[in-house]
Amino acid sequence: MATEERTLEQKLEALLDQETFPPPDGFREKALIKDDSIYEEAESDYEGFWAKQAEALHWEKKWDEVLDWSDPPNAKWFVGGKLNVAYNCVDRHVEAGNGDRVAFHWRGEEGETEEVTYADLHRDVQKFANALKDLGVEPGDVVGIFLPMIPEVVVAMLACARIGAPHNVVFGGFSPESVRERMEFSDAKALITVDGARRKGKTASIKSQVDEVMGDLKSLEHVIVVKRTGEDAPMGERDHWYHELIEKADDECQAEGFDAEHPLYILYSSGSTAKPKGILHTTGGYLTGVAYTHKVVFDLKPEEDVYWCSADVGWVTGHSYIVYGPLANGCTSVMYEGAPDYPDKDVWFDVIESYGVTIFYTAPTAIRTCMKWGAAYPEKHDLSSLRLLGTVGEPINPKAWLWYHVVVGGERCPIVDTWWQTETGHIMISPLPGITDTKPGSATRPLPGVDARVVNESDGEDAGTEQGLLTLRRPWPGMLRNLYRDEDRFIETYWDKFGRDVYFVGDASRKDEDGYFWVIGRVDDVLNVSGHRMSTAEIESAIVSHGKVAEAAVIGQADEDTGHSVAAFVTLEGSQTESDELVTEIRDHVAKRIGKFARPKRIIWADDLPKTRSGKIMRRLLRDIAEGRELGDVTTLRDPDVMAQLEGRIKERQAEED
Ligand code: WTA
Repeated sequence: MATEERTLEQKLEALLDQETFPPPDGFREKALIKDDSIYEEAESDYEGFWAKQAEALHWEKKWDEVLDWSDPPNAKWFVGGKLNVAYNCVDRHVEAGNGDRVAFHWRGEEGETEEVTYADLHRDVQKFANALKDLGVEPGDVVGIFLPMIPEVVVAMLACARIGAPHNVVFGGFSPESVRERMEFSDAKALITVDGARRKGKTASIKSQVDEVMGDLKSLEHVIVVKRTGEDAPMGERDHWYHELIEKADDECQAEGFDAEHPLYILYSSGSTAKPKGILHTTGGYLTGVAYTHKVVFDLKPEEDVYWCSADVGWVTGHSYIVYGPLANGCTSVMYEGAPDYPDKDVWFDVIESYGVTIFYTAPTAIRTCMKWGAAYPEKHDLSSLRLLGTVGEPINPKAWLWYHVVVGGERCPIVDTWWQTETGHIMISPLPGITDTKPGSATRPLPGVDARVVNESDGEDAGTEQGLLTLRRPWPGMLRNLYRDEDRFIETYWDKFGRDVYFVGDASRKDEDGYFWVIGRVDDVLNVSGHRMSTAEIESAIVSHGKVAEAAVIGQADEDTGHSVAAFVTLEGSQTESDELVTEIRDHVAKRIGKFARPKRIIWADDLPKTRSGKIMRRLLRDIAEGRELGDVTTLRDPDVMAQLEGRIKERQAEED
């Protein structure tokens, strides 16, 4: 180990003993929120508090009532109000004289750059909104978006918002089959995609792959294709080039005010069954929530800051904190197309240095990866522009937090560990950087206006400082309003456990003596692999659809780098023999059905799976043996010998891996 590494290691070790980290010197004085009174203000009148935040937006018509919660869990926020999201994110900044302000410093994988100003967005969003209208897209029609991290994805989302057509964005890492499934479930009328995409110096054709699976989907009337890589893109009758549509379209598209509860988007997310959930967000409350939290959590000064959220726009973090929150606040962001290790492992730090990024928001898994690559990469660059760091997506271990704090933040940047979900729409538990003493590994306290509680599973009562289930007690403006076309599942999943007015989060958590929340992780069959949310049932269903597989059980194994990793216990059809080729085949099959990111890291052959007498697979036992824990009671199993066989298999596997 080099001397510098050893010194860093010792420093981090020493800091592990430090329990709290107050805001750095001088930060509080300049912060937007300087004192605790904001919590009391929100507590004493939380509807009034949210109404005040909503007033920061432009409303075509003001609301009559802040919140209607008379029929939980159906919340209505800003009842009777009307607004246009695209107007709020673009037009009003241009009208205020900030058209020349950069909305996105875009950087492509090969280092090419583009500066997208608010005036550029204003022009393109209007044109593309008109193009969609010309194709017959009307308010309420669902528009799919399957695009990489290029400026057009923002234009597409805002154009949909402008004409009241809810978008359904699918993360670029999903396979075309997953895209098809999501288009089918949501009855999408149009899909916006790309000829090809780039990843680490290679290109992949997208349009032709999409065609392969989308051919017979009748509801899909139009496919709009952005020209990106020049990849061969067969264009049929329902296909249109994005640039041609933009060229032809009229310049002006009036921003009509839509009802505050008009649907803004659907985002499919993994739940505990094989079918993804279409999480539905609406207009007024959502925009209020993302704009407010983006401002106070990141202490945003739109005139000075350069903000960068490294998520992909296809996940909720990208929706709320690349697109809607930052643009509603008129802020300048960085948008980066590529991977963190291409062309080299310092590219993120190069981006920070070259644009003078002041606020950086990323995932713990990315921090752990950078930590593994070593401090030499960030140290090659001048990161002194940074003044605030954030994390999201999974619990962060104290060691990674401290590395982020010392190596990236130079010990001068507060870290905001933000807890929230696709369902919550915006950040719910997080430090306020000017006032909160942070503790590495804790998302600290609920934001003003948020009522989060940890309760016992058995009776729903307050769990004190014991571990329990996280719940949210009060409606909040950005909350999901429904699961698209699946109301029963909406109630069953979130509002059945402790009553119709208590939102069941699905995370285990602990609250310490200081009222700080330590979110531990999911209590359902949802995994978090490198910050990507997926369901065991979805992966099982993909594996079982392989012709040679009889049965499969998927579990998440704790993994130092990625949080969880996917392990699959697989039983083959009688006539099949286990082989390394078959392992590859099954992994490829999962990539095709869901996406590469869902491929199991380990496949463990099993002659049989542990099942109860009623035939239910006992995943708990599989998790226990996979992680080398003592097995608990196995007498409820139909065939207790199964476990002994599996234990043998796992030991063999581990010996091979060592
Ligand atoms: C987890 C991502 C601990 C949690 C925005 C949650 C976290 C799930 C944190 C939602 C955090 C998110 N600390 N755990 N700061 N942030 N999680 O829907 O388990 O992709 O339920 O939303 O991620 O994942 P989703």
